[in-house]
Amino acid sequence: MNINSPRYLTSFNIRELPHRFTDILIIGSGLAGLRAALAVSKEQSVTVLTKAEEIEVSNSDRAQGGIASVLDPTDAFSKHIADTLVAGADLCDEEVVTRVVTEGPERIQEMIQMGTQFDLQKDGTLELGREGGHGMNRVAHAHGDATGHELMRTLVENVKKAPNIQVHTQCYTLDLLTFEGRCVGAIVNDSVIGQVIYWARQTIVATGGIGQLYRETTNSPIATGDGIAMALRAGAKIKDMEFVQFHPTVLYVAGSSRSLITEAIRGEGAFLIDKNGHRFMPEYDDRAELAPRDIVSRSIVAQMVKTNSTTVFLTLAHKDPELILHRFPGIAAICAHFGIDITKDPIPVRPGAHYMMGGIEVDLEGRTNIPGLWAIGEVSCTGLHGANRLASNSLLEAIVYGVAAGIGASKAAETISDEQHLRVLPISNQIKTPRNPVLHLQDIKNTLKSVMWRSAGVKRNAELLAEGLESLAQLKRFMQGEQIESEGWDLQNMLQIGTIIMQAALLREETRGGHTRTEFPERLPEWRKHLTFQRQEDGSVTVETENLK
Ligand code: FAD
Ligand code: SIN
Repeated sequence: MNINSPRYLTSFNIRELPHRFTDILIIGSGLAGLRAALAVSKEQSVTVLTKAEEIEVSNSDRAQGGIASVLDPTDAFSKHIADTLVAGADLCDEEVVTRVVTEGPERIQEMIQMGTQFDLQKDGTLELGREGGHGMNRVAHAHGDATGHELMRTLVENVKKAPNIQVHTQCYTLDLLTFEGRCVGAIVNDSVIGQVIYWARQTIVATGGIGQLYRETTNSPIATGDGIAMALRAGAKIKDMEFVQFHPTVLYVAGSSRSLITEAIRGEGAFLIDKNGHRFMPEYDDRAELAPRDIVSRSIVAQMVKTNSTTVFLTLAHKDPELILHRFPGIAAICAHFGIDITKDPIPVRPGAHYMMGGIEVDLEGRTNIPGLWAIGEVSCTGLHGANRLASNSLLEAIVYGVAAGIGASKAAETISDEQHLRVLPISNQIKTPRNPVLHLQDIKNTLKSVMWRSAGVKRNAELLAEGLESLAQLKRFMQGEQIESEGWDLQNMLQIGTIIMQAALLREETRGGHTRTEFPERLPEWRKHLTFQRQEDGSVTVETENLK
């Protein structure tokens, strides 16, 4: 394996830059980051940074289906645990699954106390939906299909009222700063004043996913894998990167952005049909439309090939229109823009990149292998999802680990003395190659996204992956010089992460969860292991395998 990584993305000389000091630095203002901010002791200062123009812009804000937890008296922790383990294709960490599932109801109750308004039944109890891989109705939702927005509204309101928390928008975090093996903060590009150093007693990365690496995706424009890339550069362990989840049903209409059509729609009984009107899922899996996502996505791709078509369709024509419009008002509105009435018209869909199961390796509290550095939410790899995330388990993971890391980092910050914290450390970096001024960054980004979709998409094989790696290596050579704006930094991060995804996918010679190798169609017991990448002092990136018992 021949992967290298620079230590820092930009040149900087700490002595020439403005300095800010905070007890806890949180990079990312999605659900995980904001929940962590609220869990830190009120006596400590918290700085939350987001590269977006608005605090809410995130994957969290887009979440539709809901948040899974044991909230019904006829449900049981053992059932939610079992469904999570089955979906995870024998690669989940059972201790983590048990912890997240059993802590879930308490964390959801806290969200309700903070102001989240979930949809209720007439008797005042939570209205619970169903999604693929769940044996029960256990998904709490808000405003039908706007759960993420409601959760974010709650946290943003609470954060704005907290005097110890400051949120700064348009602050692109370039890199984590380390000194003598410890994370001491980050170098940030503030769109108003330029480069700034944030010194922190503890730093939490909560930068979300990687969906923007793919041509077809449900993800927000912020999801460019920055947090995983900066953690890799700083020496953190990066795990399970071959496991990308492709959501089966992304709206596919020429001219539309690729909007998600929530799986909850299948939970309410929608059928998947091909262009001939044939309902095909029962031929692929006994659970039909409610099989786990990896199975539904693979089946859709197979049926598209079989019928020589670029899409399949969701149909709700056999369901009660009133119920459908009550449950899915957001999706009805999006589809209406394209002349689709979801109560009677087929909705054209196909899979798109949705979620990264892998990420920065963390322990049960969200600690990474670098002292002073924590990771939570989609950027982290906790062991909850294994090779394939169970629907609606990630919002749950974000709040469970948000609280754990917020409390953990808060306690750890108390052990860092003022003497250690309030000082400017001698760190600097010099990049000698200037950027190529004639590069068309948007063109490079489009190429990268197409390469990833073709070579590391729903179906992969060695030939395509090798070709893909070669294409990325060429794009990397173009991008070697120092970039000076967010589009260039995004692209450098995307190239780094795309290379790791492809390399991991090439190494894993089996099919498991979100990772499908057409030449190795079976799940193999000898592959019951994790692949972990880590940058070494000399800039080389090595991979280790961890066998599971
Ligand atoms: P995000 O919410 O994505 O937040 C990331 C934050 O990091 C943003 O503030 C961003 O600006 C910031 N950031 C990124 N890079 C930088 C940088 N370099 N510098 C500074 N800031 C940076 N999961 C469920 O459980 N249930 C659902 O119903 C559901 N529906 C979904 C629907 C859609 C369309 C999508 C895309 C995902 C859905 N998911 C769902 C997944 C879930 O929403 C995400 O996994 C989860 O919200 C991630 O939260 P997060 O806080 O980790 O990251
Ligand atoms: C959806 O609503 O289908 C997305 C749910 C999820 O990603 O967990």
